[in-house]
Amino acid sequence: MQKTDTALSSTAPSGKVLRVEGGSPLYGTISVRGAKNFVPKAMVASLLGHSPSQLRNVPLIRDVDVVRDMLNLHGVDVIFDEEEGVMILDPSHVDAATPTEIDALSGSSRIPILFCGPLLHRLGEAFIPELGGCVIGDRPIDFHLETLRRFGAEVEKTSEGIRLTAPAGGLKGTQINLPYPSVGATEQTLLTAVMAQGITTLTGAAIEPEIMDLINVLQKMGAIISVDTDRTIRIEGVERLEGYSHTALPDRIEAASWGSAALATRGDVFVRGAHQPDMITFLNTFRKVGGAFDVEEDGIRFYHPGGSLKPIVLETNVHPGFMTDWQQPLVVALTQADGLSIVHETVYENRFGFVTALRKMGANIQVYTECVGSAPCRFQAKNFHHSAVISGPTPLHGADITVPDLRGGFSHLIAALAAEGVSHVSGIDVISRGYEHFMSKLLKLHAKVEYV
Ligand code: EPZ
Repeated sequence: MQKTDTALSSTAPSGKVLRVEGGSPLYGTISVRGAKNFVPKAMVASLLGHSPSQLRNVPLIRDVDVVRDMLNLHGVDVIFDEEEGVMILDPSHVDAATPTEIDALSGSSRIPILFCGPLLHRLGEAFIPELGGCVIGDRPIDFHLETLRRFGAEVEKTSEGIRLTAPAGGLKGTQINLPYPSVGATEQTLLTAVMAQGITTLTGAAIEPEIMDLINVLQKMGAIISVDTDRTIRIEGVERLEGYSHTALPDRIEAASWGSAALATRGDVFVRGAHQPDMITFLNTFRKVGGAFDVEEDGIRFYHPGGSLKPIVLETNVHPGFMTDWQQPLVVALTQADGLSIVHETVYENRFGFVTALRKMGANIQVYTECVGSAPCRFQAKNFHHSAVISGPTPLHGADITVPDLRGGFSHLIAALAAEGVSHVSGIDVISRGYEHFMSKLLKLHAKVEYV
């Protein structure tokens, strides 16, 4: 396959179709940089500082672009050395943006909802566009809006988006009890509480590694935050925060995705930057399925040791459970396991859309509305297809498929790479939202891929 310069560009050209000649193992070394589910939040946090921030290990992904545009609209100067992955954010001239300007960003990501607290502190008001994000469930923001109201903000939902106004005396610390350990709602609380007057107590918080790294950033800025073992986070509001200097933690979702790709293609991939402490649950599962891994100083080697793969019963959960974003790529490897595997998805109600394409390629996967194989979850008897039974091994053959969402899209890519024959994958540019330079990485791993 000839290497085109398009193939080496960081983001897939929209509308292009990826031709994949499958059936060969992926092997070689690739690197992962900062976590997609942390870096944009740290960028938002810079708004709270009265001096510039420096963020390192920043990946070149669409979610970073969207937040950079949103920050620019609000007067934050962002200088990004894409090669080095170093970003300087200067919030000295924060200013309101017009709804028209912000509307242009609507539908592109879920991160804009996290601008509320910082803008309310800096400007006393905020306007947030309609949100985007993967169609893997209803993706409500009720926890976010309820949290902001409890800090004293006036929240008005309009047809274009959400308008918020801070109370005359400023936002006040409060008690937030999350009914579910929502990552976004925890971040919303953190980004608002750090400069609210008084103490905020958050119970039922998410404690993902990306959340803990956001707390690292906020503490560097001057915040006072404690995290108890019972998921209670306490924040003492302060009057002033300064800029931070921080290196983002690596993307454990991308690392696990490439690990699953190595397993599904019977390959051997070294992921430079992969960090074992953030991936313990994934590594345990990877081993139970029959994968092998070696933890090195600068990354993790994921490989198929030969022999057959074993079926498992898997339940996704909030940290430290098996992450919901890890299951789609792993399911492709489970189609090659000897026997019946069960995946019970308890975080999102509609995260098996990607199995349609796998079935088209020969996989034997049945989805159910019941909570199959484990304890009942929030989606019990609510008619959501949130459990899957995968019967293997089934040989996969190439097919023409379309990417449904970010992580499901990567599982389509893995399936096409594992399948015998040629596949054409449409909608491939969605993958650029969360996988930096994925085409050049595929070529580095000797995948036979090209845009057609
Ligand atoms: C973050 O989404 C991640 N996205 C997701 O990754 C990740 O899967 C998810 O956390 C869980 O770890 C980013 O960080 C940008 P949640 P978020 O709030 O914050 C319900 C990827 O592919 N909920 O923890 O939106 C919600 O419906 C993406 O990288 C409410 O009901 O997730 C879901 O069922 C996909 N009301 C559950 O909580 C709310 O107000 C978890 O959502 C908010 C959430």
